[in-house]
Amino acid sequence: VTGGAAEFTLELPGGRSTEIAVGPGLLAGAAPWPVAATVADRAVWELHGARLPQTWRRVVLPLAPGEGAKEWSVLGELLERLCAAGLERGDCLAAFGGGAALDVGGLAAALYLRGVAWIACPTTLLAMVDAAVGGKTAVNLPGAKNQVGAFHAPTRVLADTELLATLPEAELRSGLGEVLKTALIAGEELLARLERDAAALLRREAAALGPVILACLRTKAAVVAEDEREGGRRAILNLGHTFGHAIEAVAGPGTIPHGVAVAAGLGCALELAERTELLEERPLRARVARTAALLQLPASLDELRRTSGCLLPAPALRRALDRDKKRAGSRPRLVLPRRAGEIEFGLAVDEADLLAVLA
Ligand code: GLY
Repeated sequence: VTGGAAEFTLELPGGRSTEIAVGPGLLAGAAPWPVAATVADRAVWELHGARLPQTWRRVVLPLAPGEGAKEWSVLGELLERLCAAGLERGDCLAAFGGGAALDVGGLAAALYLRGVAWIACPTTLLAMVDAAVGGKTAVNLPGAKNQVGAFHAPTRVLADTELLATLPEAELRSGLGEVLKTALIAGEELLARLERDAAALLRREAAALGPVILACLRTKAAVVAEDEREGGRRAILNLGHTFGHAIEAVAGPGTIPHGVAVAAGLGCALELAERTELLEERPLRARVARTAALLQLPASLDELRRTSGCLLPAPALRRALDRDKKRAGSRPRLVLPRRAGEIEFGLAVDEADLLAVLA
């Protein structure tokens, strides 16, 4: 990998690994890695498909844009088309698009011939900092997000930052919500960088975006390397997500962008950590709220209610928390910060504290 790109390796158990590269124009230089078929979000393909090496474009399997691709029937169709294209055990698949395309493409790679190699080519900020790394792949069942899937880590992640130039504004901010979450997990250095570079990130300046994406990928990779199958500590990556998923569920699919819900969820997690006296770094809540504002993200549930026009009633949010996949019995298990860079998981909290945060 050349031309201002950075790369590192995520080592996984069993001698597996993911080579991760971030930088402008990476896809143009990807020809040395053979790809037999490319699964691509149709809308992104139209904009950027020509950036992929010619050899990767011989068999292209288009997907409906966004979450619509994560359907059982779409997956079945993909597998049939891989078979019709004559893909063999030693072949490699590429998945090109946002989180949904990577989730369904990665799952197709996990299932086809009981597993073929795949290369993740994320095209959104959210997918670059989150969906591309970690090996979780999935499709949805009706009313049940990511209910069916497999762990199947890509052999490579190519985060070509030039693709972010055409990303819709709302999707950029959604990605920044996941970046803010990652900064809270990573600690002081990334948090300070976000505070300093917020305006440059919103202007999509390459000099600001590249290092932040790289830092997020390193942070996530370090957590995944320790606990790939989420036996324990990997749960910290769900910081802000228990509340965020409840917000998304109550608002209705596609109403509030994922990272925006996560940003408000971080506000909830910080408030709850403060109420339950877990939060040792007292100024952190206000600091994260200021950083969220710099990134044009909501810092609290109330702010999200005001800016989105969604009512998000507390009782509905509370019921949604009970449907969280990661609950234990009927009680939600929460991920809360003790300080920047020090996150606790699997926490049960008093009902009164939980309700106060949702009110
Ligand atoms: N593919 C996203 C993850 O494993 O977290």
